[in-house]
Amino acid sequence: MPSQDTLTIRDNRTDKDYEIEIVDGAIRALDLRKVKVAEDDFGLMSYDPAFTNTASCRSEITMIDGERGILRHRGYPIEQLATQSSYLEVAYLLIYGHLPNEKQLAEWEENITLHTMLHENTKKFMEGFHHDAHPMGVLVSTVAALSTFYPDAKDIHNEESRKLQTYRLIAKMPTIAAYAYRHRRGLPYVYPDNGLSYTGNLMSMLFKMQRDKFVANPVLEKALDILFILHADHEQNCSANAMRSIGSSHADPYVATAGAAAALYGPLHGGANEAVLKMLREIGSKKNVPKFIKDVKEGKGRLMGFGHRVYKNYDPRAKIIRDTAEQVFEVTGRNPLIDLAMEVERIALEDDYFVKRKLYPNVDFYSGIIYEAMGFHSRAFTVLFAIPRTSGWIAQWQEMLTEEGQRIARPRQVYLGSEPRNYVPLGKRG
Ligand code: CMC
Repeated sequence: MPSQDTLTIRDNRTDKDYEIEIVDGAIRALDLRKVKVAEDDFGLMSYDPAFTNTASCRSEITMIDGERGILRHRGYPIEQLATQSSYLEVAYLLIYGHLPNEKQLAEWEENITLHTMLHENTKKFMEGFHHDAHPMGVLVSTVAALSTFYPDAKDIHNEESRKLQTYRLIAKMPTIAAYAYRHRRGLPYVYPDNGLSYTGNLMSMLFKMQRDKFVANPVLEKALDILFILHADHEQNCSANAMRSIGSSHADPYVATAGAAAALYGPLHGGANEAVLKMLREIGSKKNVPKFIKDVKEGKGRLMGFGHRVYKNYDPRAKIIRDTAEQVFEVTGRNPLIDLAMEVERIALEDDYFVKRKLYPNVDFYSGIIYEAMGFHSRAFTVLFAIPRTSGWIAQWQEMLTEEGQRIARPRQVYLGSEPRNYVPLGKRG
């Protein structure tokens, strides 16, 4: 009688049975390799091109229950963090695994604040970008360039060095983002103001004009902080996977973060928030929603900001964003796109196509509408995703590096190409 925590596999090609151990609800893919038709057979592999059912790591950082629409960081529900915590505290939680006490939080905030300045050469480097360069392209390249300023970052197995790079990365992302924005607008760069909060400082670097000091509206500053909490981490998504994969070759954290940010840039991932606004503008008014939904169902484009690989229920972050939007609108005035978005949501959620496929609004559906009301250009939206996600990337990278038995990420393939054939000289190819 096989033991309970095992899986018995019968290979019908050979009539052989194999017993495979089940640990934490998973089998080890490598155990499949003992399933062979002959002694010299390579052994069975699993084919999972988009990792739809493959756990690439064991993690203690973030838990998502997609069926029930639950998101927790280190065990804490996202709803509690969003209403009671701050972005920097959540960043600490993600990276160190526990909430900081008062002293730890004060030191953490102080250390991040100390590193907000960019090397002056960064400005020269940024000046080389075309005047209408997309801020995400600028961000990806500039974060990668930080690797050249901090060669000490290569010491990835040194905990103190990792700590320093963590401060630098979290501190400098807003500064890079703000410089990219000011460059595009042809405005002089604004240096960080260490007397301000993380989000207050970002807003100052973006929006400060002639006045000596920029004071953000506290409601907007807080709303941005909540949005940052909601974007801080989301377990093994495309960019976290990129961060871990690049980091697994022991590349330094700056180039790994640049790679993760590049993954985020795509419209199926963090680029969706920008795409949602474009889509809503194209829909134009409520009367056009049914036609738009019909087109989506006929395969003419996707409803951006809807659907998720893991959530088969309402994304809990989208719910919090919708509530936060109302607070923001009390200050900024109502962004008319919110009513259009709610109409799109209403019609989609009544439609069999979306119901059957369990497609609900995700974090990107409402975030752009708030950002726009707060004065951000749609091209800056994905940057506003990348800034807070940096702490999640670092937490994932660090966990990967310190995991016992960590090795370079290297998937297998199912080779379906040509059998061996002889090289044909150029002149004889016809
Ligand atoms: N609009 C219309 N149909 C959709 C959508 C959508 N937004 N998303 C999925 N579907 C359909 C898809 O056509 C497929 O239908 P069928 O079974 O008939 O072929 C089915 O639903 C399953 O879709 P999938 O593409 O296999 O699902 P996936 O898990 O590979 O993709 C996704 C997930 C998020 C890329 C996808 O839902 C999507 O493209 N959404 C729009 C882009 C978006 O909002 N991205 C932000 C994701 S959340 C923030 C983040 O993590 O970055």
